[in-house]
Amino acid sequence: MTSVQTVRSMKGEEAITMLTAYDAPTAALVDEAGIDVVLVGDSMGNAVMGYETTVPVTMEDVLSRTAAVARATDDALVVADMPFLSYGPDEATGVENAGRLLKEADADAVKLECGEHTVDLTERLTQLGIPVQAHLGLTPQHVNQLGGYFRQGTTREAAQAIIDLAEAHADAGAFSLVLEHVPANVAAQVTEAIDIPTIGIGAGPDCDGQVLVITDVLGLSDRLPPFAEAFGDVKSEMESALSGYKNAVENGEFPDEAHAHSDDDLDGLY
Ligand code: KIV
Ligand code: NA
Repeated sequence: MTSVQTVRSMKGEEAITMLTAYDAPTAALVDEAGIDVVLVGDSMGNAVMGYETTVPVTMEDVLSRTAAVARATDDALVVADMPFLSYGPDEATGVENAGRLLKEADADAVKLECGEHTVDLTERLTQLGIPVQAHLGLTPQHVNQLGGYFRQGTTREAAQAIIDLAEAHADAGAFSLVLEHVPANVAAQVTEAIDIPTIGIGAGPDCDGQVLVITDVLGLSDRLPPFAEAFGDVKSEMESALSGYKNAVENGEFPDEAHAHSDDDLDGLY
């Protein structure tokens, strides 16, 4: 069983692997592949729910999918994303919602898109026994503020702000930090500056681990972000299974003898 302490102790020792999953069969495969951390990301909004952004994703969405993933996972650490506005309005809301992800959905930890406003919440959740994975750089829940999914930390001031916030969240008790879409040298500096592992996505090779969205990795997404890579072509496999089924039914090839049970077969049972 991978714990948050296992993940912490991997810094500087071995590369941490993390992937998203949003359903039981996919989570079971991710777990069996030996991936260290399964993230039930709010990227479910874009990846599997048909939304344009992560903004509409609700607590109920993340609860139900986290529970499915947790039921199918034996070894990997299960981290649940806190969706837009499930934390932030006030501390009690954040504590209650984070707690629901552990109590009702069996998550092992929560992830928060971070800023100045999440330092105290990270400390409070950690004190209460709810491990926190921080997330800095591009924070997609701010898409309406940012105007798009642009690389962050591209000026000296912006890079320093990320380093400062990374240190503040590490001091507040976060067990790891996701760095999204920042220059590789900034990610390397953050990784050097803090004693908890950094897990990068579009953040170069010098992080302590890497994370990608499962539909991108499997080759199931229509568009790949510039920093992602498809390691397979599951979309073609699904297309050929679907056309194979349709053709077989239309041609009368399915069901065949092997799939058909006639009355004679039933008679044979008696
Ligand atoms: O929701 C998500 O999948 C994420 C990862 C991209 C880190 O936050
Ligand atoms: Na996310």
